[in-house]
Amino acid sequence: MKNKSVICPGSFDPVTLGHLDIITRASKMFDSVYVAVLINSSKKPCFSIEERMALMREAVEGLSNVEVVRFDGLLAQYCRRHKIDAIVKGLRAVSDFEYEFQMAIANKKLNPQLETIFLTADSDSMYLSSSMVREIGSYGGDIGNFVPACVHDRIVERLRQIHQ
Ligand code: PNS
Repeated sequence: MKNKSVICPGSFDPVTLGHLDIITRASKMFDSVYVAVLINSSKKPCFSIEERMALMREAVEGLSNVEVVRFDGLLAQYCRRHKIDAIVKGLRAVSDFEYEFQMAIANKKLNPQLETIFLTADSDSMYLSSSMVREIGSYGGDIGNFVPACVHDRIVERLRQIHQ
């Protein structure tokens, strides 16, 4: 599937090893991968957009065909504007499926050229989510197995500040 550009969208609040696994695998399958960090999440992010982008940039530093961008508004419109062929998402469990399936159909209706491709999460990431990282980290628990090593200390520090 070469000569294709894809997008991995998310809040990345913060980036986890599960996200990095999906992005790394996408970077091997496609020409260019945009990691699109949602600016205004309705979930009211813990980490600012600048923090989320900086952490993600550091996490994907070794992947030469990956670019970290910010986006707001509808993903389908962003993809049309930037001539992106497909959305790549990780699926962890059956519980992810209904929501992701609904979004894939809505995005296809909004932009019929746009495909959504699901990669199954790595077995180590099946249970992993940013919210779990935030919760464990904010109570001082060990998040060493959940986030990329290069950004671990900064995530720990930031989560500690939030809980103080
Ligand atoms: O990491 P998240 O919070 O689960 O990511 C969700 C995200 C950013 C992929 C999703 O909320 C999204 O695409 N938001 C942009 C608005 C949009 O296009 N919504 C879909 C219309 S059905």
